Amino acid sequence: MAENHGMVGDVYFPAPEIIEQAHIPNYEKVHAEAMADLPGFWGRIAAENFEWYQPWEKVLDDHNAPFYKWFVGAKVNIIHNALDRHMRTSVRNKAALIFEGEPGDMRTYTYQQLNYEVCKFASVLRSLGVAKGDRVTIYMGRIPELMIAMLACAKIGAMHSVVYGGFSTEALLDRINDSQSEVLVTCDGAWLRGNIVPLKEIANAAVERADSIHSVVCVKRTGEDVEMVPDRDHWYHDLMALPIADPHSATEVMDAEDPLFILYTSGTTGKPKAILHTHGGYMVGTATTLKWVFDMKPEDVWWCAADPGWITGHSYIVYSPLILGATSFMYEGAPTHPNPDRWWSMIAQYGITILYTAPTAIRGLMRFGENWPNLHDLSSLRLLGSVGEPINPAAWSWYYRVIGKERCPIMDTWWQTETGNFMITPLPSVPLKPGSGTRGFPGVDIDVVDEEGEPVGVNEEGYLVIKRPWPAMLRTIFGDPDRYVRQYWSRYEEQGWYLPGDSAKKDEDGYIWIIGRIDDVIKVSGYRLGTAEVESALVSHAAVAEAAVIGIPDQLRGNIIKAFCILRDGFEPSDKLSAELRDHVGHEVGPIAKPTTVDFVDELPKTRSGKIMRRVLKAKVLGEELGDLSTLAN
Ligand code: WTA
Repeated sequence: MAENHGMVGDVYFPAPEIIEQAHIPNYEKVHAEAMADLPGFWGRIAAENFEWYQPWEKVLDDHNAPFYKWFVGAKVNIIHNALDRHMRTSVRNKAALIFEGEPGDMRTYTYQQLNYEVCKFASVLRSLGVAKGDRVTIYMGRIPELMIAMLACAKIGAMHSVVYGGFSTEALLDRINDSQSEVLVTCDGAWLRGNIVPLKEIANAAVERADSIHSVVCVKRTGEDVEMVPDRDHWYHDLMALPIADPHSATEVMDAEDPLFILYTSGTTGKPKAILHTHGGYMVGTATTLKWVFDMKPEDVWWCAADPGWITGHSYIVYSPLILGATSFMYEGAPTHPNPDRWWSMIAQYGITILYTAPTAIRGLMRFGENWPNLHDLSSLRLLGSVGEPINPAAWSWYYRVIGKERCPIMDTWWQTETGNFMITPLPSVPLKPGSGTRGFPGVDIDVVDEEGEPVGVNEEGYLVIKRPWPAMLRTIFGDPDRYVRQYWSRYEEQGWYLPGDSAKKDEDGYIWIIGRIDDVIKVSGYRLGTAEVESALVSHAAVAEAAVIGIPDQLRGNIIKAFCILRDGFEPSDKLSAELRDHVGHEVGPIAKPTTVDFVDELPKTRSGKIMRRVLKAKVLGEELGDLSTLAN
């Protein structure tokens, strides 16, 4: 096979040196071992690679399924493994984080320096009254202080709830109210495409109406004038200069099952829900998947180009690289600022070895042609990664050929906010088929089944299911355990399977091909949005009586949002109103949720019980068969 590596027909075979170097050269063997004894497999990994204050009594407790528990009885703190333990070794002097701001400013934190900042901010939070189990909302741009704030929360056992900086007032307010956070950490603004996103202004508008928040900490990033409310608001740098900012603050001893964070994500219906992850299992799962899938080595410079405000950033910018003692790179701004080669120039400058991004970003940069990447030396790259949506053949081959120079395999990782870590993913040693994430990570029991739960035939479409628990799985929906059971575990209740909400196919080699969501979740540029969020923003406008939104496939963004509105009496359809409604959604939810078009209609297709049939709207727009209309009322 040695001479047969690279693309052979439709399959990519890794070069022998890639296989030799990989942490797990033989997928079949490791997967079989894991499946034969799941608790034994994870117990061994947990014991060998992590430090625990106190070991567990039992690896997996499934008596109260689907409320699974992992590493029951163990004491740990993810920060002990991400920072504290590195202070005893040479990792202390290694770069943990290399940061470049959009205006071109640079900062590097060694593990020692990062730990120093985290300790100080942890004691600042404590002195603001934050204690174990409390929630802290973080609403910031992509800067090191965002990571410091998250790590400081974890250190003192408080749950962070990071709200993506691209969201607006209503989205932030909903998430603060649902979590009942008492402290908000934000910044004066964030750089994006040479402009400033006024985060503090948006935060002020939300906090004004959020009763639970008593203190706001604001990082000075842009230096813009912002309104600081006396007694409530404090500058980060002022607090960090006080004696209360203790560089030796203690790491809270946590139960392995104690909550680490909540993160809001869009679901099938209603408001976004707070997915809850824990210290023990999440730590073991995220670090192990990063190490094996991206073959993380001490000399690597890892760039996960996501935002820490999403699960990808939580798991693979903030926590797992630090646990592995790796060096991460973080960039604040837009990939095209000031020119479309910003990313490629930074890869050359910092010697990035692994790039992990979303297909939508690749397609966005592809538009500018090969000349931009070809201006730079990309030879430091050895592995590439993709996440967030299926990667289309054109984007795959551009990424492979122009960025990876036909040397770098592409790890296409399928997973979710709920799963905490990669679930369907190649390892560097396995053959790849462009567009497929290959098979389950070792120990991940995944399948494609029909309504009854029977496996579907080769290349037939069905529901993706996960048949056995895994350490980094969500534990519940914060404040709504019933919804947790209903949403994820009720469809295949008898079998006890987890339903991710994706449809998929399995080919003759057992490779899984994701087709898309089976629910009302829309992936726009890789961002996960719910139809309900956009619709409720539309009906909050005085002109709109009813609204329905659907996702329509788009070459660049994966999907775009199309909205249909019924107007209230006294309002007339116009281009002006359509533009106003789009802006209204941008203002309420965030620019990412803006519908591309707003159409005015007299009625919406509904079931007799009054549920909007988005599938019918979508079929009409796409000119497809309308399907079963027996439940349609009008
Ligand atoms: C989709 C992002 C195809 C999928 C980590 C899933 C993908 C949802 C892939 C979760 C992939 C994610 N190929 N589809 N490699 N990765 N998805 O919670 O529909 O923001 O259910 O987590 O993204 O989105 P979330």
